[in-house]
Amino acid sequence: MIKKTPPSIIALDGPAASGKSTLGRTLADTLGYLFFDTGVMYRAVTWIALQHDLNLSDEAVITELAQKAQIDIQPPSKNDGRACDVIIGGKDVTWDMRNDEVDANVSVVSAYAGVRQALSEQQRRIGLRGRVVMVGRDIGTVVLPEADLKVYLDASAEERAKRRFDEIIARGDPADYEEILRKVIERDRIDSTRAVAPLRPADDAVIIDSDKMNAEQVVARVMELCK
Ligand code: DC
Repeated sequence: MIKKTPPSIIALDGPAASGKSTLGRTLADTLGYLFFDTGVMYRAVTWIALQHDLNLSDEAVITELAQKAQIDIQPPSKNDGRACDVIIGGKDVTWDMRNDEVDANVSVVSAYAGVRQALSEQQRRIGLRGRVVMVGRDIGTVVLPEADLKVYLDASAEERAKRRFDEIIARGDPADYEEILRKVIERDRIDSTRAVAPLRPADDAVIIDSDKMNAEQVVARVMELCK
């Protein structure tokens, strides 16, 4: 009997807060693959730009930053829910990069063609080594169009905002559902209407709508696709 090996390059795309990271991490752990969340690179560039008070509307300046930035992504050093450590200039910025200011500006930074080119090239180099679950917005369409399995994980804006709201409340922080929903919709709009590599499913992607599925059901469905 021929034993089928699981797909080596797995591309996982979808809108903000659709559960891609949770799914990607579980898949990578189960298969013994590298998990790579490409969103951290766009966040890191945005974080550096904000730290240095750079003009975020200046595409040339932000592109140069993306080309030169030393973003070090390492295996997680702490068991605090992080998927990896993100180190910039020797400083651990893993959680800092997820603050409101970065959230509000990252879509603008990630719409710049030069920024995307610089970061996509690095992502592609890592992805082509194989045995990887790469998560983002354009992995199946642009970064790794040759991926063996492409999944597009979708959910309604309301459901995604609710999940984000529950996450924040569970951490003990204050949260406003309407405000979160407004931001989710705005990020969707910018990510899916940008000229370069807009958020969309690849033609050969399997689309999973997770509105009425829990995390375990989504993992089970994708593991089924891996067989
Ligand atoms: O997945 P995330 O929320 O951490 O992503 C942050 C931002 O980065 C998001 O607004 C879209 C952008 N992004 C992208 O344009 N392409 C990717 N491959 C990953 C993220």
